[in-house]
Amino acid sequence: MNNQRQEERAGLEPNQEQLLAALRAQGIKGRRVLEIGCGTGRLHHRLLDEGAASVVGVEFSAAYLEQAKALARAQGHEDRVTYLEGDFTELAGQIEPADVTILDKVVHCYQEPERLVRQSTAHTRFLYALTFPRDRWWIRLLIRSVATVMRFFPMLWRIRFSRPEAIRAWVREAGFVRLCHDETKMWHTEVYVRRGETGELGRGDGLGSPHEKSNGSAL
Ligand SMILES: C[S@@+](CC[C@H](N)C(=O)[O-])C[C@H]1O[C@@H](n2cnc3c(N)ncnc32)[C@H](O)[C@@H]1O
Repeated sequence: MNNQRQEERAGLEPNQEQLLAALRAQGIKGRRVLEIGCGTGRLHHRLLDEGAASVVGVEFSAAYLEQAKALARAQGHEDRVTYLEGDFTELAGQIEPADVTILDKVVHCYQEPERLVRQSTAHTRFLYALTFPRDRWWIRLLIRSVATVMRFFPMLWRIRFSRPEAIRAWVREAGFVRLCHDETKMWHTEVYVRRGETGELGRGDGLGSPHEKSNGSAL
């Protein structure tokens, strides 16, 4: 089976299912989504299936974006997606602020995680959703080992571990409050809402209460 067929058939990973459930609970219909480090786009194509208005996907890897575009064609989403190849922190000036921003397993894949979080939160009107590695000795060791190996290869991106509390502080300092928290063995899944933002779409369509809980507790 070629890569494309595999992508079309592949389901979401457990942490992506958690993100999807949390976003669904907040109301995804009609939302303009920004996915940074979107990879092959599996997650955002599900959001489009569930009624998101549009997606901007930003990704370093041209190969991933080709697969994301092929999925868009296969699923009839072409007119609702825009893909940009490159570093979000450099492209941010060309991108409209989004209702919902997603960074799924991305913050640890960038050398300046604080800059990435600060710029992406500044681009977010309503919900900020992210997954990032848990603070476990074996996860830190794994990331350190992979980072060492990556140094010997020409890569578009490098990985580094950030403490969950540091990531949470950057998001909170940008004016966000955590709504939901979930986890798998490896990942934290968290969704934040901009403080004081009701998420009004102005058309009354598809908007759930922004303070409903999803899998985890509102915090
Ligand atoms: C571990 S992969 C996750 C891909 C996808 N989100 C998923 O979960 O399948 C991390 C991705 O983030 C991308 N990335 C990291 N920092 C980025 C940045 N500043 N701008 C755009 N893409 C970025 C990398 O190119 C890489 O494909």
